[in-house]
Amino acid sequence: MNDLVLGVETSCDETAAAVVAGGTTVLSSVVSSQIDLHARFGGVVPELAGRAHLVTLGPVVDDALAQAGVVGRDLAAVSVTMGPGLIGALLVGLSHAKALALAWAVPFVGVNHLEGHLYACLLERPDLPLPAIVLLVSGGHTMLVHVKAHGEYAILGGTIDDAAGEAYDKVARVLGLGYPGGPVLDKLAQTGNAKNAPMPKAMRDASFNFSFSGIKTAVARRVAADTSNELAPADVAAGFQKAVVDILVEKAKRAVIETGANALCLAGGVAANSRLRASTEQAADELGVECLLPAFKYCTDNAAMIAAAGWWRLQSDGPSPLDIGASPNLRLAVG
Ligand code: KG4
Ligand code: ZN
Repeated sequence: MNDLVLGVETSCDETAAAVVAGGTTVLSSVVSSQIDLHARFGGVVPELAGRAHLVTLGPVVDDALAQAGVVGRDLAAVSVTMGPGLIGALLVGLSHAKALALAWAVPFVGVNHLEGHLYACLLERPDLPLPAIVLLVSGGHTMLVHVKAHGEYAILGGTIDDAAGEAYDKVARVLGLGYPGGPVLDKLAQTGNAKNAPMPKAMRDASFNFSFSGIKTAVARRVAADTSNELAPADVAAGFQKAVVDILVEKAKRAVIETGANALCLAGGVAANSRLRASTEQAADELGVECLLPAFKYCTDNAAMIAAAGWWRLQSDGPSPLDIGASPNLRLAVG
């Protein structure tokens, strides 16, 4: 049976296309990042993102098909992120994918970006023993998801204010590290000592919720009060990183215990974080459950995860109607 899916992703600042077979075998994955375009503004400018997707998406799709050695009519489906994300950016991908599906006469599937991030785990380990706890941490989202089976999720908790990646980017700005701050802050933290700049951990309660805006403010206050420049930026970065990662892993670990899950996984851009990866691995080890840390290229936004999620959605729900719209605030369907 033909099981080739073209995935298209344009929800934020990466223009991506990929061809994946059977929801697990990546034949090609092309990502064109707009980071340079937005860096001088210190964050993603929605209007610029949409315009850049418009220019880049066609060549990126062509590249993905060429690298996979397939033509459009060979596909089982075209799947695309329909939300959540920036409305203008989403519309570019959605309209393009619909046009391709129509022109090639192949099924069209709208995919939830968050479900895509969850499928990044199954891309690498199709035999991942479910149920699993996935800590989904990105620039826009932070949540603990109980993946009971394919397409069957429960959201145990999430952030009540900033997403973890957003906190990283904001703290990096306070430290003058540029945008996006997460990777740079992570690198700097590895050279610092958290004990020299301990930061408060928030929401150490029985819930599975998180709060990061207090830590961000604590860092900004510390830095502002340090008029004689005695605080080493590397120590501040290490203190912040420890506070954020420790609470994420503490709650993820408890989620595994309380649900009796078989695996602990990371997903989303912040899953590239060195301390988070090491601590999650250690936690899974202590619990005696499987640990899945997706490759860096599948942590940040990419279209392989959208093609994988699209393949499973096609199996369970069939194609999506061509009149579906973009949903900037789309939530992960639970059940
Ligand atoms: O999943 P993603 O590519 O886009 C969203 O859907 O948000 O995540 C991007 C986020 C940014 O906030 C970036 O700073 C953060 O992931 N990030 C990191 C690291 N690499 C990327 N945060 C901490 N440590 C990293 N190594
Ligand atoms: Zn994302």
